[in-house]
Amino acid sequence: MPETRRPISLTGIKPTGVPHLGNYVGAIRPALKLVEDYDAFYFIADYHALISVRDRELLDYYTRSVAATWLACGLDPEVATFYRQSDIPETFELTWVFACMTPKGLMNRAHAYKATRDKNRKAGLVDLDAGINMGLYNYPILMAVDILIMEADVVPVGKDQIQHVEIARDIAGSFNHAYGDKYEFKLPRNITSEDEDANAMPGLDGRKMSKSYNNTIPLFCERNELRKLVRRIKTDSTPVDAPKDPDSSSLFSIYKQFASEEDQAKMRERMLAGGLGWGEMKDMLFEQIDAVLAESRERYKALMEDRKALDEILASGAERARARARRVLESVRAAIGID
Ligand code: TRP
Repeated sequence: MPETRRPISLTGIKPTGVPHLGNYVGAIRPALKLVEDYDAFYFIADYHALISVRDRELLDYYTRSVAATWLACGLDPEVATFYRQSDIPETFELTWVFACMTPKGLMNRAHAYKATRDKNRKAGLVDLDAGINMGLYNYPILMAVDILIMEADVVPVGKDQIQHVEIARDIAGSFNHAYGDKYEFKLPRNITSEDEDANAMPGLDGRKMSKSYNNTIPLFCERNELRKLVRRIKTDSTPVDAPKDPDSSSLFSIYKQFASEEDQAKMRERMLAGGLGWGEMKDMLFEQIDAVLAESRERYKALMEDRKALDEILASGAERARARARRVLESVRAAIGID
């Protein structure tokens, strides 16, 4: 890899499921765009997934699925540094150091932790921490390390992750305050798209497409499965002949993410004119998504069948990422007085 001085873009995806259309449009595609202007460090946050995935085969499958997805979508592992979080042991040493610099109250205020407690409260549980493990509680510390140990400048993330990037900055600030004359962490900032349709692509039931709502369309499901799922997207009972409002339609909102501006304009016109039924529109949407994804789907399938190739790519990325992590950790150890 050439020695570059470009700023660093870093992001991770938790392998807690098979990537879906919403992940692609909201996270993967925008991060791939940044590869043109940044040195990219993209990784699979498998130790973050351990918080909720307890089936060893599934964790392995999801990890390979996320890895194959990035590559199939065009991430070039020669250009970007692409690795598994768990292959960077330095991360877990720095996690302890950061835990010692993180006020407990900061973790009490983290969204994911608070959301789980709220759920427990609504369910009438006496113990609001029921079902919460320390992995979930410490989640933002590990994520801060992911970001800071690679000296990232920007972190492309969805809205729900902005707080985590802020926490990373807070933790870096605490460290810098105490040891900044010896080693100073760079303060990262998030990059988050303003495009609401991309941030919150609707799922089968019209709510935001999300694993937790069980309403997703897998990015690389087979063509027939894709057709079936697109047909299941919820629509209202507006008759075929009636005009339809593109801006309140899930189908159009998804279509926009996959069609050219020209095709979007045509679709908009047909919807407003009336005469385009939801059924026909679903067929058009399906064909459009399929056309965009067909080639990557083949690459994805090939990668999922070639464990050795995937392993080699990830190992070579880990080697490059580790070199960086090692250097940062050494500076930290020297700074804190553990040499
Ligand atoms: N928390 C992120 C998510 O759930 C995944 C993640 C882990 C991450 N470490 C990160 C994202 C570092 C950006 C940077 O989507």
